[in-house]
Amino acid sequence: PDIITVADLASRMAMRQTDLIKELMKQGHMVTANNTLDADTAQLIVEDMGHSVKRVSEADVEEGLIAPDRADAALKPRPPVVTIMGHVDHGKTSLLDAIRKANVVSGEAGGITQHIGAYQIEAPSGDKITFLDTPGHAAFTAMRARGANVTDIVVVVVAADDSVMPQTEEAISHARAAGVPMIVAVNKIDVPGADPNKVKTDLLRYEVQVESMGGDIQDVEVSALKKTNLDGLLDAIALQAEFLELTANADREAYGSVVEAKLDKGRGTVATFLVQAGTLKRGDIVVAGSEWGKVRALSDENGKPMKEALPSQPVEILGLGGVPEPGDQFVVVESEARAREVAEYRARVKREKQNAQSAGTSLEQMMAQL
Ligand code: GTP
Ligand code: MG
Repeated sequence: PDIITVADLASRMAMRQTDLIKELMKQGHMVTANNTLDADTAQLIVEDMGHSVKRVSEADVEEGLIAPDRADAALKPRPPVVTIMGHVDHGKTSLLDAIRKANVVSGEAGGITQHIGAYQIEAPSGDKITFLDTPGHAAFTAMRARGANVTDIVVVVVAADDSVMPQTEEAISHARAAGVPMIVAVNKIDVPGADPNKVKTDLLRYEVQVESMGGDIQDVEVSALKKTNLDGLLDAIALQAEFLELTANADREAYGSVVEAKLDKGRGTVATFLVQAGTLKRGDIVVAGSEWGKVRALSDENGKPMKEALPSQPVEILGLGGVPEPGDQFVVVESEARAREVAEYRARVKREKQNAQSAGTSLEQMMAQL
């Protein structure tokens, strides 16, 4: 519903809140700054006060924000974005560490992944693959859902000594909801008594029939610890990616998704973006959710400076004025004025939603007390 708070209305009329509230009271509206008015009422009031009204709608602000590709745009192959999901402790981060020859697990508090990590690797074949690591802890459902939404392929990691568990099942649902193909990685096959076949049989109950059981979902048996068959996993990803024929136009203003963002004391907002199309460069003016800024620096996950970020490439950027939410869309726009307009509009909509919610509850509470 189109509503606006008295405070927002005052700021849009370039009036002091107290002056607007006084005016409203004269007109018989007993309000405070946080009360909301519906758009029609607000328009009448404002016109009574001799202002002209220009209503800005979502369509005005959001339409054309991501410019359509030009007719002669060249779509070029892009690397797959692969999200690693699975139950807590089944070895997602270890598997990625083994593939990247890095060591993230040992630096994690209590060995639990708390956020989405984004990395791009070059496989021995020379193909690039972008990986998103997700936490398996039950509390991180929303994060996994966000991961699934920006991804091309989901790798479901299942520990062979533990088999299918609640977050395995959830990972399967996220992949299905997002409409992306799955690859099953049966991990920890080095553990004595591990039973990969039990994993594959258990998966049948969730209608996941892997190739080695006669189905069409690729499966690989691996050990992150012993680095067994990592190439097999990379090959499975490459095969699936080839089938998907992933392309993007790199020759345009960039847009994509916010993977994560935080406030850093020294550097301000540090955001990890995943570019979905276009090329992100230093100096680009970008809107991310209801925040905006000028890209001041780009770097990879190791802090190494980058000149630009291409489709499917994760990149850490500095320069946003505030912290956007993971899963927000980012888009490069032509001017600071446009960026400010979009960001302010979104911030206002967000505030109004929150106000409407709190107004809703207090009304319910009032009714309950009657
Ligand atoms: P969360 O991010 O907390 O959900 O866990 P995760 O899935 O990322 O698991 P992680 O990689 O942190 O591994 C959990 C534990 O399993 C660690 O102690 C790893 O050393 C161990 N582990 C991972 N892969 C293997 C494997 O192939 N074999 C054996 N034996 N242990 C493994
Ligand atoms: Mg992890």
